[in-house]
Parts: sequence; structure tokens; C-alpha cells
Amino acid sequence: MAISVEDLTKSFGDLKAVDGVSLSVHRGEIFGLLGPNGSGKTTLIHCLMGIYRFEGGSIRVLDHEVPGQKLEVRRRTGFMPQEISIYQDLSPEENMLFYGRLYGLDDSTIRERTDRLFEFLDLEEKRSVSSRTLSGGQRRRVSLGIALLPDPDLIILDEPTVGVDPLLRKQFWDHFQELKGQGKTILITTHITDEALRVDRVALMIRGKILALGRPRDLMEQEGVSSLEDLFLRFEGGT
Ligand SMILES: Nc1ncnc2c1ncn2[C@@H]1O[C@H](COP(=O)(O)OP(=O)(O)OP(=O)(O)O)[C@@H](O)[C@H]1O
Ligand SMILES: [Mg+2]
Repeated sequence: MAISVEDLTKSFGDLKAVDGVSLSVHRGEIFGLLGPNGSGKTTLIHCLMGIYRFEGGSIRVLDHEVPGQKLEVRRRTGFMPQEISIYQDLSPEENMLFYGRLYGLDDSTIRERTDRLFEFLDLEEKRSVSSRTLSGGQRRRVSLGIALLPDPDLIILDEPTVGVDPLLRKQFWDHFQELKGQGKTILITTHITDEALRVDRVALMIRGKILALGRPRDLMEQEGVSSLEDLFLRFEGGT
């Protein structure tokens, strides 16, 4: 199992942002976390990465206990946060070097992987400009590059395709499939229902709880709806 979460609860004051969530992500699958704004997706991911402390339940990521072994988890996981955290004063290339060194990679490996990733992410023309001058979508591409840089077995992506144009979005998804083909595990959040159709299994998260979990087409069949959008709306409306 790449990730296993048992009865996880995380509150902010009176608000249970994650409310008794249990789920397992298998090795080698693309697992989607689908939910509306404020449903707890980012909070759950921050618990997985050991960024937030949680008051109830247990988490194992890549056979490491969180929070106890969170540093090991972070070293072995590629993470693309929802709030892009690239250094504005550094160029995309320098950001890769900075994060690559944090992951403990040597400079020649970083340069070689940066060349490959920037070609895929169509960032070659922008590689040495100040990141301050990048567009929003270009920033997200750099952020995805950073997540893929350590060539990790587990990749956690928090809404990676928001603000990304349709062509690149398609290329992102093709690349996720390719990574899966190499045996990598991907956890991805989205609130875009047709994206969620492309995952192996999806968990529908609403108000901190997982209300449905399974293969997208099985879930649609079980609920007698013809699209994930209808499923989403049905559960979100609480009917
Ligand atoms: N640091 C925080 N302090 C207090 N409340 C928070 C904090 N972070 C999140 N929340 C609250 O927890 C709930 C879940 O937020 P979270 O960011 O996990 O949602 P999300 O599913 O990622 O939403 P989105 O799709 O908008 O990214 C929201 O009601 C939010 O206001
Ligand atoms: Mg979020």
C-alpha cells in the first residue's frame, strides 16, 4: 500500500476539516480526491505530508508512520502544493537546482532531469528568466517540475491543472499515465469531474467525509447516474 489512512480527524477550532476519513491508495494507481471547495482535500494532503498535526487516527505513507517519520516521507514523495511555492527571485532553472539539492540530488543529475522536464513542460524559453515574470500557468509547470524532479515513487499533486491550458492539461494527464506505467503512484486532487474520470479510483470528499469511493464508472453505475458531475451534485446536495 502506498498510503493508508485510518479514521483520520483534523479540526481547526470547531470545524472538522477532515472527519473520520479512512482510505488506501494502492501502489501503482492514480487515485483521485474529488470534492468541492473547502471539503478538506488540501487539509488531508497536509496531514499526509506531516505538515499538519492531527488529533485522531493514523497515517502510513510508503510504509512510514506519519508524523513520526514525516521527514522520510517528504524525502521520498514528490509534492506539488496548491499554493505554488517557487522562489520569485530565482529563475525556473535555479528553483530546480535549489529544490533538487534539498532532495539530496547531485548537480549533474538535477541538470539532466531539469533539461528533460523543461522540454516536456515547455519551459525551455523561460528557464533563466526571473520567476516573477512567469504567467500563472507557467508557475504551475515549474511547480510540477519540482514535484517530479526527485523521480519519486509517490507523487502527490494538489490541483495541478488549475489555470493550465487545455493542451498542456492533456499533456499533464498523458504524462501521469506514463508515470503510472513506470509503476509510480499518484494522488491527485481536483474538483473537475471529467478529470476524475481519468483516475483508477476516486474518493468523493464532501464536508470532511468520504461519501463514495471506487472506480469512477462503478460509482456512476451504483448511483444510477450518467456522469461524475451528477454524482458530485447528488452527494453535494446531500440527496
Ligand atoms: N489553516 C487553517 N485554519 C483554519 N481553517 C482552515 C485552515 N485550512 C483550511 N481550513 C478550513 O478547512 C476546510 C477545508 O479546507 P481545505 O483547504 O482542506 O479544502 P479543499 O478541499 O482543499 O478546498 P479547495 O478545493 O478550495 O482547495 C475549509 O472550511 C477551510 O476554511
Ligand atoms: Mg485545496
